[in-house]
Amino acid sequence: MPLLIRNGEIVTADSRYRGDIFAEDETVTRIGRDLPAPPGTEIIDATGKYVFPGFIDPHVHIYLPFMATFAKDTHETGSIAALIGGTTTYIEMCCPSRNDDALAGYQLWKSKAAAGSACDYTFHMAVTKFEANTESQLREIVGDGISSFKIFLAYKGFFGVDDAEMYETMALAKRLGVIVTAHCENAELVGRLQQKLLAEGKTGPEWHEPSRPEPVEAEGTHRFATFLETTGAAGYVVHLSCDRALQAATQAKERGTRVSIECVIPHLVLDKTYAERPGVEGMKHVMSPPLRASSNQKALWNAVASGLIDTVATDHCPFDTEQKLLGRDAFTQIPNGIPGIEERVNLLYTYGVKRGNLDLHRFVDAAATRAARLFGLFPRKGTIAPGSDADLVVYDPDHKSIISARTHHVNNDYSGFEGMEIDGRPAVVTVRGRVQVRDGVFVGDSKRGRLLRRDPGHF
Ligand code: URP
Ligand code: ZN
Ligand code: ZN
Repeated sequence: MPLLIRNGEIVTADSRYRGDIFAEDETVTRIGRDLPAPPGTEIIDATGKYVFPGFIDPHVHIYLPFMATFAKDTHETGSIAALIGGTTTYIEMCCPSRNDDALAGYQLWKSKAAAGSACDYTFHMAVTKFEANTESQLREIVGDGISSFKIFLAYKGFFGVDDAEMYETMALAKRLGVIVTAHCENAELVGRLQQKLLAEGKTGPEWHEPSRPEPVEAEGTHRFATFLETTGAAGYVVHLSCDRALQAATQAKERGTRVSIECVIPHLVLDKTYAERPGVEGMKHVMSPPLRASSNQKALWNAVASGLIDTVATDHCPFDTEQKLLGRDAFTQIPNGIPGIEERVNLLYTYGVKRGNLDLHRFVDAAATRAARLFGLFPRKGTIAPGSDADLVVYDPDHKSIISARTHHVNNDYSGFEGMEIDGRPAVVTVRGRVQVRDGVFVGDSKRGRLLRRDPGHF
């Protein structure tokens, strides 16, 4: 059925104007004033509302075997929560461990998502070891439309790669035109600090941050950037959390290294005092890199506003209360992760745009357009233009709400953002021209999502 969104304030990364959007066959076909509606057209009145391109979350975990358990969402629950929050495309980390076969892992992740996602998706392919058959396997995966790799400098022995493996991955990525995303922490230092703290009887969640302090992240970031500079590969630092690491990454950018930067919504709006709460309340706020001293937030917000930080993602990774309690005797056993796929856009709008930290265009750029450009989805995704997929968010800037696990849609029994006030919410969300969300309610097809093919572009 054709779709006409009338009289909205259409906002992209670089334009803002009032108009109508007409979509047919999943695609935006016309933008103008007073567009006609052929018989059978679904009409949405966007008067008084923004119309944004569907938002893109470039860093989520849905299926994830990790730290002796599994993340809680299915692709159905995670994608519905994403859509209610305005995210119409997510990039999931496909993370087989070092003990797994990479190609078999890729097929497994693909089959899990194929069981049903309500919005479109793709994967970053984790390279967790580099063996004789790794190059041919990765070539096959890239040929299947996956044009980004992921490496972990942390999580030694499970996901983590050593320097030799990082070099091989980047050298191959450079040859293939693939971008390498990376979790940057020094695994050796994390392990040493964890053992030292536990030996001193420091077992609670408040010791998670001291076990992975800012210099440890800055070192990983600097090393990743140095390897990029040396190999000439393009890279992307995921979930950068602090000023020290930001300086390492921006200095590399200034030298011309091809490095982009992501930060995630928990590091922008939460600080380490959340993880210092007693007992399981603290455990709920354990992620890596950890929530930091609040003094880092100004630097992160400034870098998002200026575009030095390219994207704002979530690192969505839900573990419920019972799972978090696996770490009751030692913070090293707390499953790392905080869910956020549903709240990212509203939090970024509220604490970014509404609080004067971010302009509206940079908001769209950081939450949609830049990820589309970096990861081979632009202009199909990440903007509103004739020929783009009709992934649209009609956004009500006046809606007020409070985040709560009682009302969220993620498959988890708590929210890391419980009680936070939100200004604005998606009133209507479409995926390729079909209305999937209306007024905070999922009304669509839970299997509409497709795996997106992405071609390499970072030669
Ligand atoms: O704490 C986190 N970030 N959990 C998910 C795994 C990762 O490092 O991205
Ligand atoms: Zn990570
Ligand atoms: Zn992650």
